Amino acid sequence: MILIVGSTGTLGSRVARQLLADGQRVRAMTRTPEKAADLKQLGAEVIQGDLVNAASLNRACQGADRVFVAAHSILGNGKYKSEYVDDVGHCALIDAAKRAGVSHFVYTSVYGTSPDSPVDFFRTKYKVEQYLKGSGLNFTILRPTAFMEDHAHNFNGKSILEKGKTSLLGNDTKPRNFVAARDVSKFAIMALTDSKLKNRTLEIGGPQNFTNNEVAELYGKLAGITPRVSHMPPSVARAMSVILKSFQPGISRIMYINSLPDDAFPEAFDPTRMLQQFPMQLTALQEFIRERIAERNGAAK
Ligand SMILES: NC(=O)c1ccc[n+]([C@@H]2O[C@H](COP(=O)([O-])OP(=O)(O)OC[C@H]3O[C@@H](n4cnc5c(N)ncnc54)[C@H](OP(=O)(O)O)[C@@H]3O)[C@@H](O)[C@H]2O)c1
Repeated sequence: MILIVGSTGTLGSRVARQLLADGQRVRAMTRTPEKAADLKQLGAEVIQGDLVNAASLNRACQGADRVFVAAHSILGNGKYKSEYVDDVGHCALIDAAKRAGVSHFVYTSVYGTSPDSPVDFFRTKYKVEQYLKGSGLNFTILRPTAFMEDHAHNFNGKSILEKGKTSLLGNDTKPRNFVAARDVSKFAIMALTDSKLKNRTLEIGGPQNFTNNEVAELYGKLAGITPRVSHMPPSVARAMSVILKSFQPGISRIMYINSLPDDAFPEAFDPTRMLQQFPMQLTALQEFIRERIAERNGAAK
């Protein structure tokens, strides 16, 4: 039985569907079981659980031999502040997995994590990596770059397709790597099913790097429109991060990230080494955008 924490999310739902299609037994954890109705239909056991409720994590891990976690609360507030979910909650999940005798724990971290990252969320991911390594559990750590679904589409291109315009945060001179969640999902499945990936940390990225502006141009070019692109200067993003910090810590964090100089928080990735070790066809951003355009055209019919 494979427990998936974050089973309703962009990555977790793809991994759950693929595992079910491969005939694996899947337990899908969510705070809101109705959100996992599609997975239930596909044969998953759906269990209610919350990373801030340690008792629910003990129940979720009971009888699971493997755990895949793809949950986060980067934008969370109140009881779901990032430190409670991404730090304390993940450590509690690792403890629960250990108590339940789980044989392999696959953790989704993030590319660029380090103990001295300027961004607290990236330091938290590093801390949890260390906690997992010290737990005695077999582990695999995945460190993917920015998902196309969020960082190319939801935060940028979607609005170009819908309204012909987008607003970007920061200077926009920084090359960023974008990876499709379905490609990250392939690594998660490999980690869960191939014992050679035990006790390894994998850096995962897409085929190319783009600035956010280049992503906006690409959406415009492929959709045949000239998008209007506005920018929030880093100084304004920094001021917003300070103003929002106490009551919107998640949005404050995003503003802060976009106020940093490019070299303080690099996001480029070279996939050569990864592809030498794991030869595969990665999704190009152009292909991903064409799919979003086709989806939209299909929905408009
Ligand atoms: N998105 C990116 O660009 C990106 C890039 C690199 C790494 N990552 C990492 O990849 C992983 C998956 O990201 P994603 O973008 O696929 O996530 P997502 O779509 O934002 O979904 C978040 C998931 O986390 C679960 N979750 C949030 N708070 C929870 C809580 N208190 N208890 C239990 N579950 C909770 C949600 O489940 P319910 O709401 O159903 O409870 C949901 O399934 C995360 O670890 C993230 O940090 C993401």
